[in-house]
Amino acid sequence: MNETDLINNAKHYIVQGQQLERKEPEVARKSFLAAAHMLVNASKSTTVTESKQRYVDVANALYWRAHAIEGSVVEEGSSDSEPDERIKSMLIAKPGTRFKDIAGLSDVKDEIKLKIIEPFKHPEIFKKYGKRVGGGVLMFGPPGCGKSLLAEATAGEADVAFFNVKASDLKSKFVGETERNIAALFKAARGQPNGAIIFFDEFEALGGERGTAGAHDRNFVSQLLTEMDSVGNKDQKILLIAATNLPWNVDLALRREGRFGVTVFVPPPDAEAREHILQLHLRDKPAAKDIDLHQLAGRTDGFSGADIKALCESATDIPLKEYLATKRARDITMEDFKTALSKRVATTQPWFGLAIRNLKQCPDDELAKQILAHAPSTD
Ligand SMILES: Nc1ncnc2c1ncn2[C@@H]1O[C@H](COP(=O)(O)OP(=O)(O)O)[C@@H](O)[C@H]1O
Ligand SMILES: [Mg+2]
Repeated sequence: MNETDLINNAKHYIVQGQQLERKEPEVARKSFLAAAHMLVNASKSTTVTESKQRYVDVANALYWRAHAIEGSVVEEGSSDSEPDERIKSMLIAKPGTRFKDIAGLSDVKDEIKLKIIEPFKHPEIFKKYGKRVGGGVLMFGPPGCGKSLLAEATAGEADVAFFNVKASDLKSKFVGETERNIAALFKAARGQPNGAIIFFDEFEALGGERGTAGAHDRNFVSQLLTEMDSVGNKDQKILLIAATNLPWNVDLALRREGRFGVTVFVPPPDAEAREHILQLHLRDKPAAKDIDLHQLAGRTDGFSGADIKALCESATDIPLKEYLATKRARDITMEDFKTALSKRVATTQPWFGLAIRNLKQCPDDELAKQILAHAPSTD
């Protein structure tokens, strides 16, 4: 199909999805996915740079819409597994990750130490200085830059129970079930003798975008607000961390000052951090002496931590494949990195484009300021 056909088909599916969203959510969900798929193909076939980006943006929005339907299909009856069982599986054992395993991001680490880790260790000192302990930290930024990793390291550093919650795990297709899941989660957290940290990953999936969220979504946003407000007041022993790649989709009421004490931007790694990430990912691999990490750091501007990890994997695959063919082992070389680099692209720039476009539609000074301060220059 050519670009025009793809776009016309996508339009058809979008209209169908919109018409069936209420009556036949499953068909609507599939229609939105089909439209997204066509837009992705259209973006591959067009030669106009602006269209490319616009198609991808719309496709992303459609994926989210399909995802939201999946979580909100209304059915009678109760779920197959008890909420308590599900909540238990969110309580995780202390992971091995520590802050020292994360390159850069010292500002974010400091905020987490001050707001999350130290209050558990020295509650009396916080009281003495009249600091109210509560709320938590909301992290946002481009994907692959260390948000989930930071949460994992926080669990490793703090000596308290840690609940790792993907927002979509709490969301249920059963009416009222999501609210019950949230209540069960906070109840389980309050039951921890030494306190607990709750980490909400993909937070935007819970706080559905304002205006587009159905009544179902609003119910659990308000349930979550109630729980969060009581965290700040009566329980001094539960702290929250949340992470999102799509902060403009997080309900403003959830983002507001006081709910989360701080909202921090987790930026793409700078050159120094990139060199450190390369080092971390090569530390257990046979790397030749000719690998110039400083030079590689300079050539990976705009790469996320995840991009750099993938780059290291691609470079490693080259001698590995050779070994499988020839049975002769050799170290990973700078040449392997150059080959791998020619096939990889940075993923953080498109996110900034998306962020700026979204913030234009819903101006939010605090978010916009933090994002613009880190946006790559366009020249
Ligand atoms: N600052 C960093 N230091 C070390 N590794 C990183 C860093 N940022 C990202 N990574 C690597 O990229 C992977 C994906 O990061 P992740 O924390 O899942 O990103 P996010 O949650 O922001 O999308 C991590 O598991 C890690 O291997
Ligand atoms: Mg993540």
